This record gives sequence, structure tokens and C-alpha cells, in this order.
Amino acid sequence: MKEKYTLRNKKGRNGLGAGVWNIGPGSDPFGGPTRESIPILDRLPILAESGIAFFEAHDSEIPFDQVEAAKVRAEKFGLKCGMYTPSFFADPIFKDGAMTSNDPAIRKLAIQSGKRAIDSAIALEAPVVVFWNGREGFDFVLNKNGQDAFKRLIDGFDQVAQYAKEKAGSSIRLALEPKPNEPRTNMYLATVGEVLYLISRLDVGHRDLFGVNPETAHSRIAGLDYLWEVELCLEAGKLFHIHLNSQDGQRFDQDLPFGYTEPLKDLALLVVLQDAGYEGIVAFDIKAPRTEAPENIADILTVSSQNLVWLWERAWSVDRSILQTLRDEKRNTAIAGYLGKCLFGQ
Ligand code: GLC
Ligand code: MN
Repeated sequence: MKEKYTLRNKKGRNGLGAGVWNIGPGSDPFGGPTRESIPILDRLPILAESGIAFFEAHDSEIPFDQVEAAKVRAEKFGLKCGMYTPSFFADPIFKDGAMTSNDPAIRKLAIQSGKRAIDSAIALEAPVVVFWNGREGFDFVLNKNGQDAFKRLIDGFDQVAQYAKEKAGSSIRLALEPKPNEPRTNMYLATVGEVLYLISRLDVGHRDLFGVNPETAHSRIAGLDYLWEVELCLEAGKLFHIHLNSQDGQRFDQDLPFGYTEPLKDLALLVVLQDAGYEGIVAFDIKAPRTEAPENIADILTVSSQNLVWLWERAWSVDRSILQTLRDEKRNTAIAGYLGKCLFGQ
């Protein structure tokens, strides 16, 4: 078996994370699968053999009643659960949102499945439960009352957090993952700033349980700089998890390999994570392309991991005192040049 990738001198949890959904059958909104779907638990050895240390899964992929089987399988391959997440988007019942649905019965269901996800995460010993904003949003204005929808999010997260606290104290943390659009035309919690504002409105008794899971592609789709989104999380003490990938332009979500489209910015990101002593798991949210043959399905994992390990080393070689001097000398372009030298130079 391949040795697991690690990041030299990384604080906290080392080893890389990836989702079981990253190696799917290749369907997209315009066409069905191009590969046979690998049963979810059979994806665990593929992640492990690609050098991944932490797997991530939705409740639709590993439901509560399969948690024990997943644990046994994962342990066999030296994998741990790095993150668990309720799917508030796959089931048709949530087609117009989960916690923000106009239908109180559906909101209740969402809160129940949020609590169930906490139970599964406890059993899997996952340190973090991610809530992606999925279908929380609207396609037409006035379909929902925006102010009410926001209050429903506050209420929903307060209830789930109350439950998490009772069941797990502070050993499980909840990370909200922003995205501006897709699948909905407009989504609530579109950016890191919105998520931080929501957290500021939660019950002070469990606000510390909440943080952010920023994803590269989601920030880029919003037209924002990912590094600044991450820095904002750090400033707030809320960088609980991270989803790295690449995004080619401000359009549909591509989940391309890490390091592919903006390696210089990725280098800068790693400098910031190193300096911040980020202790959480570094995870990928990538997608094996539809064009990939079944035997190469794991290429996206190894390409991303290798790029990350190389860039992480380059990031250690960035001389922080040179950066400081250039800042002091007000040489902004030269800073970009220095990063270029660290990336492309000898
Ligand atoms: C979906 C989203 C992804 C998110 C994951 C976890 O797969 O596409 O970005 O991280 O759900 O909720
Ligand atoms: Mn993600």
C-alpha cells in the first residue's frame, strides 16, 4: 500500500482528506455515468491506496446503519473519518431547501437529519460535521422571505448545536460551507462573510462550536479571492476545516485538482496556513472527471496530493523576512515576483 501523504512540520492533524464522492461514476447534469459506480465502502481502499489518511462522507453515502461497517472497513486500511456531513440536497424532499424551507414539516426533518449526522459523526469519531448550504436559497425573488429564511437558519443551527453539545460536549465541531450559487440560482450563506455573520447571531452558549469550511472553487465562483476568504476565517478564529481544489474561471463548479489553475495563489495560501499553525485536516473536494477511465479514477487524488506536498515544501522555502522587507519598502509587484521565484525559480 502507498505511504500516506503528510505535510512536513504541519501542526495538529497531519495526513490528507478526501470525500468518498470524489471518485464517483462521472455523471453531470447533461449526461449519466461513464463508469460503473463503485460501492461506497469499496471506495475506502481506493482512497487509502492513493495515500489519503482521512475519508469524508455524506449521510446519503454512509447512513447511520452503515457506520459500523464503514468503521471496520476504514480501520482495515488505516483510514480515519475526517468529516461527516448531512446531505440536505439529494433527497427530493429538500428540493426547495432544508432548514430554510417554507414548510415547517420539512424544516423539522432537516433538523432531525442534522442531529442524526451528529450521532453518526460521534460513532465515526469524526472531528467535524460540515453543513454545506446546498439547496438553501431561491431561484425566484420573493419565493421566500429572506429575513425569515435567515432566522430559520439561526434556529436550525441552534437546535443542532444544542444536541451536539449534549451528546459530545465540544469534541465535535460544526463547520458551515459557503457557496454563492449552484444548485440554486442564489444561495443563502454565499460567502465566508455571510457565514461569519450567521455565527455571530447564534446562541452564545454554543457559538464556539461553529466555524467555517471554505472551499476554493466556491470562493472563485463568487468572484472572490480564496486566500482572503481563508484569512478572514483565520482572523475570526473560525477555520475549522478546508476544502481545496481548483476552479477554471467564474462558472460552474469543476472541483479540479489542487494546484492546477492558480499555483502561485495556492503557494501563498500554504504560506498563510503554515504561519497560522493551522491544525485542522487539509482536505480536497475534487471530482474525478467524466472523461476518466475507471482504472485512472484515483489520478485526481494523487495529482492533488503531489501538487500539495510540492507546494507545501516551496511554501516553507518562502523567506518571510524577504516578504516583510518588500512590504516595508512598499514593493507590491516585487512580492508577486518573489513568490514567482519561489514557485518557478531554482
Ligand atoms: C457536496 C458539495 C461539497 C460539500 C459537500 C459536503 O458534495 O458539493 O462542496 O463540501 O457536499 O457537504
Ligand atoms: Mn466542498
